[in-house]
Amino acid sequence: MSTTPMDTGLLSARELRKSFAKVRAVDGVDLDLRSGETVGVVGESGSGKTTVGRLVSRLAAPDSGRVELDGRDITRLRGRGLKRVRRDLQVVFQDPYGSLDPSRTVGHAVGEPLAVHGVGTRGERADRVAGLLERVALDPVLAQRYPGELSGGQRQRVAIARAMALEPRVLVADEPTSALDLSTRSEILNLLLALQDENGLATLLISHDFATVRHLTHRIVVMYLGRVVEEGDAAELVAEPLHPYTRALLSAVPVPDPVRQRGRERIVLRGEQPDPANPPSGCRFRGRCPDAMPRCAETDPVLAGGSHRVACLLHEGK
Ligand SMILES: Nc1ncnc2c1ncn2[C@@H]1O[C@H](COP(=O)(O)OP(=O)(O)OP(=O)(O)O)[C@@H](O)[C@H]1O
Ligand code: SF4
Ligand SMILES: [Mg+2]
Repeated sequence: MSTTPMDTGLLSARELRKSFAKVRAVDGVDLDLRSGETVGVVGESGSGKTTVGRLVSRLAAPDSGRVELDGRDITRLRGRGLKRVRRDLQVVFQDPYGSLDPSRTVGHAVGEPLAVHGVGTRGERADRVAGLLERVALDPVLAQRYPGELSGGQRQRVAIARAMALEPRVLVADEPTSALDLSTRSEILNLLLALQDENGLATLLISHDFATVRHLTHRIVVMYLGRVVEEGDAAELVAEPLHPYTRALLSAVPVPDPVRQRGRERIVLRGEQPDPANPPSGCRFRGRCPDAMPRCAETDPVLAGGSHRVACLLHEGK
């Protein structure tokens, strides 16, 4: 990574919990994001990644737990206070088709946050919109067009320009490339990386795919059924994954070196994901874990360790 994060806790979440009916979508998650840092959140579908993104960006309120921005508790903010912090916390979603109003021009979409927050005059906002479109490598003449006239990649650039309009401090990008074709994916990821370098922006990059986050993030958080099961420096975690679930996810990611690729063993996870409304006793990964031991049925492992943390009884007390 080209930027070294400063050691300032910008966004911190503690013990976040959020349930939907009987499903504990997020079940006691801690997360820290420093300014200039990109943190990847990885896990299978249903592991709670989007819910975590919505909680830390204050699009949703947790049932319990706490979110702090710059050391200030923002968990219970509402009304004007919430509107003010939401300027600093912007989100880009997976689907650039659903996130833009088809009846409004691109210029309107990008300028809307400025208008809502009363930034500048109409003319100044038009200039800002042109500048924002240039920053995401789009021709400013596109401001007159409608989303339906753009490609998926162009729409995602528009969504990113819109998210950057208020110069946020934190960007949550939830699967920002999974609706795009392969060649457009790396363009959008490179754009996010460039924006982060320019502004010291802190980014939470959510993806079900290790291949997407491994080269772009400083740290990686691995989620399984609403919990963080492993967390650490991105390079270290990829080189030496500790949790059997992380190992299995990584074994499915191709490596560029064909010789190494041939020598690698793909770990196939047994069984289906358990019913999230009724997770197993003890370690909730045990039904699929190739290393499960009898006591994994009794003891629910806690996330522990120094800078590289893991929730697995194999690594207890190490
Ligand atoms: N609004 C909701 N109503 C009911 N259940 C929900 C809602 N949002 C999420 N859930 C449930 O919470 C769990 C976590 O969902 P979440 O969308 O956070 O997972 P995810 O990791 O983002 O998955 P994906 O990779 O499919 O986007 C799932 O079991 C999901 O069905
Ligand atoms: S605690 Fe047991 S079941 Fe859970 S991941 Fe570790 S070895 Fe596997
Ligand atoms: Mg999701």
